[in-house]
Amino acid sequence: METRNIGIKDKICCKHVFKSFTDLNGNMTEVLRDINLTVAENEFLVILGPGQCGKTTFLNIMAGLEPPTSGEILLDGEPIEGPSPKRGMVFQRIALFPWKTVMENVAMGPKLRGIPKKEREEKAAYYIKLVGLAGFEKAYPHQLSGGMKQRVGIARAYANDPEVLLMDEPFGHLDAQTRYQMEHEVLRIWEQARRTVIFVTNNIEEAVYLGDRIVLFSRCPATVKAEYIIDLPRPRQYTDPKFLELRQEIAGKTDLAL
Ligand SMILES: Nc1ncnc2c1ncn2[C@@H]1O[C@H](COP(=O)(O)OP(=O)(O)O)[C@@H](O)[C@H]1O
Ligand SMILES: [Mg+2]
Repeated sequence: METRNIGIKDKICCKHVFKSFTDLNGNMTEVLRDINLTVAENEFLVILGPGQCGKTTFLNIMAGLEPPTSGEILLDGEPIEGPSPKRGMVFQRIALFPWKTVMENVAMGPKLRGIPKKEREEKAAYYIKLVGLAGFEKAYPHQLSGGMKQRVGIARAYANDPEVLLMDEPFGHLDAQTRYQMEHEVLRIWEQARRTVIFVTNNIEEAVYLGDRIVLFSRCPATVKAEYIIDLPRPRQYTDPKFLELRQEIAGKTDLAL
């Protein structure tokens, strides 16, 4: 019985994705080996894997920033070719324009797409409010904390009206307290503005807290080692026995520290 509140339509389908890099001496490094996965529309999928296993490489391919060596990725049945505003990225270190305000940073994508000022500022204001930064529209990045910058990054990604949000360890650099808060916030935002999310992390607890499903990557070259459907109700409690059990089970399958 399907109990998760997600679409039944497949949004993304990765088929036999391989990726290798060749250095200047001709030495080849295989990073992704035969990745197959399907992501349902509006699903919150977490990719969990150790450092250097190929998670960013995989997201870059999903974003269309790099081609796979072989295999294909379909979005709504169409192959991904090159970057598109349909696929928004949120990075570990949010690169905001330091000389632009929060409003200007968030409205940048729509501006580049030629959306008139009034319309793009309304859109930006909506997402700035959604991420909890109403009142900071005129602030500059240096006036914001790490967590607030990350919120701006999320608002900026949403302001492009992406169908898919790709999040690459977005909370990896935050202190533990802010990280818990942002994990909670990202779900609140997602519940209000549903999108298909692929969220990458190396943190088991974060993965169990966030995901509808976890896809576990092995060490490099990454293969899909296991998949877990997390059907615990949200908001999840980090100390719930079922949460801890799942965390323990996943830990037993990985080289990741608890
Ligand atoms: N452009 C590149 N050229 C050569 N090697 C790369 C390139 N990008 C990533 N790699 C290698 O691929 C492996 C996986 O990197 P990455 O995808 O960044 O891992 P993760 O995000 O899981 O930490 C690393 O060994 C890295 O050195
Ligand atoms: Mg990475």
